[in-house]
Amino acid sequence: MSITEVVSLDIGHSAVKAAFANKDGVRQTFLFPAVVSSAVVISDETEARRAALETVRVGNRDYFVGHTALIQAAQTATTGLSENWIETPEHTALLVGGLQKIRAAAGLDNAKMLVLGLPAKMFTRQRNRLKEIAAAAVGPEMDIRVIPQPIGAYYLNILDTNGTPARSLSAESWGIVEIGHYTTDFALIRNGRWAENGSGSCNGVRVAAEHLVRILADTRKITIDLFEAEEALRTREIRVWGKGEDVSEEVQHAVEYLVSEVVDNAVRLMEGIVSRLNGVIVAGGGANLVYAALREKWPHAVMIETPRFAVVEGMRRYGLSVRYAASVMGR
Ligand SMILES: Nc1ncnc2c1ncn2[C@@H]1O[C@H](COP(=O)(O)OP(=O)(O)OP(=O)(O)O)[C@@H](O)[C@H]1O
Ligand SMILES: [Mg+2]
Repeated sequence: MSITEVVSLDIGHSAVKAAFANKDGVRQTFLFPAVVSSAVVISDETEARRAALETVRVGNRDYFVGHTALIQAAQTATTGLSENWIETPEHTALLVGGLQKIRAAAGLDNAKMLVLGLPAKMFTRQRNRLKEIAAAAVGPEMDIRVIPQPIGAYYLNILDTNGTPARSLSAESWGIVEIGHYTTDFALIRNGRWAENGSGSCNGVRVAAEHLVRILADTRKITIDLFEAEEALRTREIRVWGKGEDVSEEVQHAVEYLVSEVVDNAVRLMEGIVSRLNGVIVAGGGANLVYAALREKWPHAVMIETPRFAVVEGMRRYGLSVRYAASVMGR
């Protein structure tokens, strides 16, 4: 079995993350904005060539995804904020576009298994439906697996880069807090098995961005949109008339809303068991906003090094472990 056979896509509300191994067997990840628009004809040849990689057909319509959708058709671009997101052609466009970009970046077309994720809250209800939709979009020869997104971060922690357990799965229990854009997901793994009753979700980084918009409007009469607010959470700066302005104090206040919501929910879901866990994994793009507060409560909280890619890389490792087990059994 080759590690190029398994690829994974974490289709999030802010960005699609991808993990795969390229033609030389080197592990890679990338992300692109989770933005979709209807495709339009581009007259500039260089631009058109660039756009081709981010153009996908779903049903009988062409869509732009990622940067091309942002740049060429920003007015009509959409991201999914409904629970039925997976049913939309936009979601399928992100999936097909993600796979297309993986194949181009890998320099080969050897993927035989595609691992996808769902928010823990939606997993049981939508898992089979997502498999159906994905199979219809990418073809029946691809083996499609779906796992709860936060469990991806757990697999990253316990499987090595080839999908082999680094430690005994059944000997360890972990909590996972995954701070995404739209949702923060909580999950509990007890002795290697997902304990659904420890799962739950609350708001993600978006609430901090929304608060920042409001705080800046109220206190400094500055109007920014949500995209700018999100960027400011990272840079602690905004541009006004071409000049950078420090907004670190406002960012601090905005982040406090997110932190208290995440910490309250984490405590509610895990308090009874947390001291007996091996640790609590903190992952997702918003991890570094919340990690310090969680760590203060729980000294065994650990933050993943590149938290935004934790889920997708963990999903890839999970896929490898499944494929490897199947190949051994089939021998
Ligand atoms: N270094 C950083 N500091 C603060 N925020 C960050 C940083 N990097 C990314 N973010 C923000 O973290 C958020 C979550 O990113 P992530 O990619 O995990 O979300 P998502 O998977 O798209 O969302 P969801 O899981 O809710 O669908 C985004 O809003 C992003 O802007
Ligand atoms: Mg996510």
